[in-house]
Amino acid sequence: MHLPGSKSISNRVLLLAGLCAGTTTLHGLLASDDTQVMLDALRALGCTIERSGDSARITGLAGRVAVPQAKLFLGNAGTAMRPLTAALAVLSATQGGEFELSGVARMHERPIGDLVDALRGLGCRIDELGQPGYPPLRVHGGTLDTTRPVRVRGDVSSQFLTALLLALPLAASESAVVVEVEGELISKPYIEITLNLLARFGIVIEREGWQRFTLAPRAAGGGYRSPGEIAVEGDASSASYFIALGAIAASDGRALRIEGVGLDSIQGDIRFVDAARAMGAQVSGGPGWLDVQRGRWPLRAIELDCNHIPDAAMTLAVMALFAEGTTRLTNIASWRVKETDRIAAMAAELRKLGAGVVEGADFIEITPPQTWHAAAISTYDDHRMAMCFSLASLNAITGAGPGLPARILDPRCVGKTFPDYFETLFSVAQADAAAIPVIAVDGPSASGKGTLAAALASALGYHYLDSGALYRAAALAARNAGVADDDRAAIARLAAMLDLRFERGATLLGGRDVTDALREEAVGVLASKISAWPEVRGALVALQLSFRRLPGLVADGRDMGTVVFKDAKLKVFLTASAAERAARRHKQLLAKGISANIESLRADLEARDARDRGRSVAPLEPAQDALLLDNSGLTIEASVEQVLAWWQERCPFR
Ligand code: C5P
Repeated sequence: MHLPGSKSISNRVLLLAGLCAGTTTLHGLLASDDTQVMLDALRALGCTIERSGDSARITGLAGRVAVPQAKLFLGNAGTAMRPLTAALAVLSATQGGEFELSGVARMHERPIGDLVDALRGLGCRIDELGQPGYPPLRVHGGTLDTTRPVRVRGDVSSQFLTALLLALPLAASESAVVVEVEGELISKPYIEITLNLLARFGIVIEREGWQRFTLAPRAAGGGYRSPGEIAVEGDASSASYFIALGAIAASDGRALRIEGVGLDSIQGDIRFVDAARAMGAQVSGGPGWLDVQRGRWPLRAIELDCNHIPDAAMTLAVMALFAEGTTRLTNIASWRVKETDRIAAMAAELRKLGAGVVEGADFIEITPPQTWHAAAISTYDDHRMAMCFSLASLNAITGAGPGLPARILDPRCVGKTFPDYFETLFSVAQADAAAIPVIAVDGPSASGKGTLAAALASALGYHYLDSGALYRAAALAARNAGVADDDRAAIARLAAMLDLRFERGATLLGGRDVTDALREEAVGVLASKISAWPEVRGALVALQLSFRRLPGLVADGRDMGTVVFKDAKLKVFLTASAAERAARRHKQLLAKGISANIESLRADLEARDARDRGRSVAPLEPAQDALLLDNSGLTIEASVEQVLAWWQERCPFR
């Protein structure tokens, strides 16, 4: 699997490129919620930004205030809120300007008081617009005094020190500036990333232990020098889920290859590798890659001070479910001020799975479940909760019981740092086809099954199969190839070789967009005819089965529940009167500007129903265990709601 870019590096480099003179091209940039708010903020402040793929060309501000006023919305991105607060406070104190920084409700509960205090100590003017010590903030003017050390607390979040170090080059340049850290500095590896990246932008900072940092005198405008081009490493915290996956599930002697970070990474979370090894993972690596497989099994419980890997340590808590004994993770007080109170959230959700959990102010202890429970996991709008708990779905591997599903609520929260997380997971994880849930929606023409099935798939994040499109595509392929309408063998051969893909709402046949061609009347008529032939039906079975992929499938057609997916967990048979269906189709055609006659549409539908019902193979009929839904009087939303309610009843979640 290939990792998305590092969030910590992306947002630091974006800010540095935005502050320095000239143009910097960033490669391998993370595209996620947190980097998007940083990009939006830089644009609002006057930077020029061109995106292409995972690259961005940024022309920076050369240490100048380009826009005298701005209101910046920074979502829930601590890596944007803290450094931008510092940079804008220093800029407005030296050059004027007034800037407001706000975020989502949770951002307004995440502390920033230590940074505000440090910046005020330096002479910046900052107003807290909500609660003291929390965003939203307004920064406006002030007079800097850099002759005295800037003092900042380091024991709540290391991002306060990072923010100061990134911004201080903007303060008076002819003298050295000293920063002193009060209290024990946490998450030190993140400060190393900051220093490393500042050095890439020409800023040298001398460090005495973790207590005192000295910034040498610099050129005006901050003295940041663009490196021209800079590559962002893959995200080491994101790698932790796949390292864990390899340690738990890569058991057949083949390693899971992770591309994007290697053992030489500048990110502190690469040290997660040591922790995973201590639990039993076998990890090897080189520049930009890691290979992971299961070593010891079951995993070994550990006791670990996790101060150096606060984010990746969450993954250890979930690996602990697969360990022998009790795992104890300590020195993790910072979990309480992250996207959510992660100690409380982790404890609550691990318990749902059956684990024994003891939590304290700054530690958590996890004992694996004796009996696993199927559970719907709350994610608290925290991307790492969603990613960590996806690993609980591997519970069958323990052999402790039958495989139980885990449901991740609001999985889209992974967009904060890893928008394609689940797609990536499913691309390297395999499940028995029989274990992949299918909802079959069958019914006659124009019963609305396509609309219903597509809406269900979208609500559940499942794949969608419009099996009618396969018959239509076979018909179209036959017409394109000039095959006679009654040449059964030739049409069946074509059906068996269909090169059909569904991409972003379009249907491609042999690479050509045939979305509209498939809906043509003549194609529909031929599809109806050939779909009665056993040779053609047989030829399309394998293709239909191939749609059964993680995390699940909603398939619509005529025989989804009776033939193709006999073991579907839920079968729905739609009925609607021919009159109602004719009226719907009539409306659809009119909307497209095609005139039609309701009576002949109805006659046509009834003839097609009769053909579908009367054929000897896979006649249209409800499966014995299908639930009938007459949607004649129902809106689409009501039908979707009804089927989702039936689905919920079949899932083992409360
Ligand atoms: O649903 P749609 O109108 O797109 O289907 C095209 C043709 O394929 C229909 O005439 C229908 O009889 C046939 N079909 C089928 N079995 C399916 C899906 C469609 O026989 N599972």
